[in-house]
Amino acid sequence: MRKKTIRDVDVQGKRVFVRVDFNVPLDDGRIADDRRIREALPTITLLREHRARTILASHLGRPQGKVDDTLRLDSVAKRLGELLGAEVRKLQDCIGPEVEAAVAAMKDGDVVLLENLRFHKGEEANDLEFAPALARLADLYVNDAFGTAHRAHASTVGIAKLLPAVAGLLLEKELNYLSSALENPNRPFVAVLGGKKVSDKIGVIRNLLTKSDALLIGGAMSYTFLKAKGFEVGKSLCEDDKLDLARSLMTDAGKRRLAFHLPEDVVVADRFAEDAAYKTVPAEAIPKDWMGMDIGSHTAATYAKVIRDAMTVMWNGPMGVFEMPPFARGTRAVAEAMAQSKGVTIVGGGDSAAAVEQEGLANQMTHVSTGGGASLEFLEGKELPGVAVLADR
Ligand code: 3PG
Repeated sequence: MRKKTIRDVDVQGKRVFVRVDFNVPLDDGRIADDRRIREALPTITLLREHRARTILASHLGRPQGKVDDTLRLDSVAKRLGELLGAEVRKLQDCIGPEVEAAVAAMKDGDVVLLENLRFHKGEEANDLEFAPALARLADLYVNDAFGTAHRAHASTVGIAKLLPAVAGLLLEKELNYLSSALENPNRPFVAVLGGKKVSDKIGVIRNLLTKSDALLIGGAMSYTFLKAKGFEVGKSLCEDDKLDLARSLMTDAGKRRLAFHLPEDVVVADRFAEDAAYKTVPAEAIPKDWMGMDIGSHTAATYAKVIRDAMTVMWNGPMGVFEMPPFARGTRAVAEAMAQSKGVTIVGGGDSAAAVEQEGLANQMTHVSTGGGASLEFLEGKELPGVAVLADR
């Protein structure tokens, strides 16, 4: 990686501000998935071993610049303390005299967690007061929040212009895996793309059309492609204003002689519910009053074979409504084929990461990204502002 990391700087006795992404899913106030906390451990451990004073900062949810008691970071600090086997003191705010006093009282090797950055409007606005107030707390800035690196906020960009700024180990790992898959993949390189909308994935499809050997399309966005081919899609989710775009993407794939796979068969339901009536039909025969919910078993078998034969697989977006067990089979088939693959397997964050966790297969992937929106923007070929601002080697 061409950015400096915490391995390149002296942190001993320094106050180190570490932007992490502890924006974890909550279920009734409980942490439903602590992966983002676990993935931050290598950086925090390295800093503790080198006797730095570690000041962690994150957002949680979207409180829009106001204090929201349900989005405080106390449960995150508790979980992090359990994982580290060390005390993590949670402060009541992220800027101001009390925070400055608490930081001044830290000893070498201590770890504190600031309160949710987004309780202040200045965070997302990246304003001229908030970033310096954060910067006052520290001697060095570390970005380890890959999941938030696509946001140009005070804690990801503003502060990095005011302090020496380097990457953490998670950010480094994410960039290394994602960029080597995109720039220098072992071939065949297969991209599996799902999710609701073609419009969310246009940039990714366009970029991967130029880099991959095959694209496997699933999820609700496949119905827009099927309709663009002239098929009836019934009540399936479909973006009628994107049919021309879908046609042009398919034409482009054809010109590049890239294998562009759409579902051959589809699991359809009579309504959007877990207990709906459902059946599998050929992709060209979706009944008028039914809606597509998953790829069918023939498609799943075809996709699984293409994945097993690949040397690099990049997956972003579920194949169907995987939260509902009857419609999770296609997503499961992709996850299982990736787990069996001998190649490099990379799962984008967000729903696909949740799906491999749900199937208990996350440990069998080469890399599961902690970034949802961030990994998508990276796959589109965009430079992430939180990365661009860090010091080069
Ligand atoms: C994420 O979960 O994708 C990141 O934490 C960014 O959150 P945001 O979309 O609210 O900026």
